[in-house]
Amino acid sequence: MSVYNSLKTLDEKTIDKSMNTIIQQTEYLSTTISDFRNFIKNDRHKQKFSIVDMINKSLSIADAALAKYYVQMITDLDTDGYCNGFESEILQAMLNTLNNAKDALDKNIKNEEERFIFLSTDIKGDCIIIKIKDNAGGVPDEIINKLFDPYFTTKGDNEGTGLGLYMCKNIVEDSCGTVSVANRKFIYNGINYVGAEFTISFPIDGKAEFCNR
Ligand SMILES: Nc1ncnc2c1ncn2[C@@H]1O[C@H](COP(=O)(O)OP(=O)(O)OP(=O)(O)O)[C@@H](O)[C@H]1O
Ligand SMILES: [Mg+2]
Repeated sequence: MSVYNSLKTLDEKTIDKSMNTIIQQTEYLSTTISDFRNFIKNDRHKQKFSIVDMINKSLSIADAALAKYYVQMITDLDTDGYCNGFESEILQAMLNTLNNAKDALDKNIKNEEERFIFLSTDIKGDCIIIKIKDNAGGVPDEIINKLFDPYFTTKGDNEGTGLGLYMCKNIVEDSCGTVSVANRKFIYNGINYVGAEFTISFPIDGKAEFCNR
């Protein structure tokens, strides 16, 4: 009713003017969005890069945050291989996965207990495999199939969007790779642990016969 009343008091000229401003602004915004999308698209190009170099870059970025949460990184990066893909996006996917492990360790492992992330590279057939495993207790069986779904999160409203692993999967697949998760039981330094293990695999040297991305 009050909208109707105020509309009544508005003359046609003012309405027209406001409408025009709205139209102009939406047009401006939509051009900005498409310019931005084109910019991102053009900026993206596949290139050949060393997996171990990419991992080392991600570790130098994540180091301080992991140290702050008393997380010890155990790396085994003796095997290297080239991937043909979007390096900076894959680096983001690595950071996301490391950050998830850090969150799970922070939530489930008390300060006085040891918190580990194991990061390794290996070659299997034509693929280079990256494994990221923690000792945070693993993912409950009821939700493990949902982890890569968009907006799936077990974190609070302001703590997680649930887009991290969904983005990881898209990023890895755009570079012709695959990503999966499984719970692992393992022994380290004589102690039994359980944790989630993320496996990311890329065709070595970009050899991807069936990849048309
Ligand atoms: N290493 C891990 N151990 C146990 N659970 C994990 C691990 N990594 C991810 N998860 C589970 O997967 C869910 C989805 O992860 P995802 O990265 O997609 O979103 P998020 O971390 O909740 O939020 P954000 O979008 O901010 O990353 C998490 O909420 C968590 O429950
Ligand atoms: Mg996340």
